[in-house]
Amino acid sequence: MEILTFTSDKDAAQKAFEIVREGVESRNVSTLGLATGGTPVEFYKKMRQSNLDVSSITTVNLDEYVGLEKENPNSYHYYMEKELFSHMNFKESFLPNGMAKDLEAECRRYEKILKTHPVDIQILGIGANGHIGFNEPGTSFDAETHIVELTESTREANKRFFEKEEDVPEYAISMGIKSILAAKKIILLAFGRSKAEAIKEMVEGEITPSCPASVLQKHPNVIVLADEEAASLL
Ligand code: GLP
Repeated sequence: MEILTFTSDKDAAQKAFEIVREGVESRNVSTLGLATGGTPVEFYKKMRQSNLDVSSITTVNLDEYVGLEKENPNSYHYYMEKELFSHMNFKESFLPNGMAKDLEAECRRYEKILKTHPVDIQILGIGANGHIGFNEPGTSFDAETHIVELTESTREANKRFFEKEEDVPEYAISMGIKSILAAKKIILLAFGRSKAEAIKEMVEGEITPSCPASVLQKHPNVIVLADEEAASLL
């Protein structure tokens, strides 16, 4: 695991963008794995302000809330449209459908999409409890795309995007840890003091489902781009 520390999230986002640009321009990247939340916002800004030709690039997203329509401003479909897809001409983009009638079938459908579009570079954030995607502590490392019951701490952390905490969905569909580890390269972004414990556990702790991100120690090609606060306990 390579760890680079930056003075600002903008500098870290610039580095992430440069890695992606190099991969796209050298044609080594055909599928990009994308994340949501506050963390990748600066990275998406660098992407949409660039003139990078992404017309041959497919994107797959990590997760989506269950029960939110695509038009709901809190859905990850809406977030991706706003931050990236409405500004860039990707070949095609996939997210799990959190409105599917049969959610188990939706998980299988999404896993098939991932198998036909192997991820070359996966962008990841990290939850304060060490979650990646929506894989909460305790999730098996063998999990593929699955339905997740969100923990109280994750709903609490994400309520800032909603009007009230009751509006935060209780369930989500998430790529599993096994699905995430299938990416050829992973760029994990982490900013702020609230991520410092999780980053320490991920980098220096035991590899255990109690800290889902610790599994990244086993992946051969992970780069962590953190600000000084997130890296402060290393
Ligand atoms: C959310 C998302 C994750 C994200 C993480 C951190 O719940 N499902 O993909 O990486 O939690 O969020 P943020 O970047 O807003 O701190």
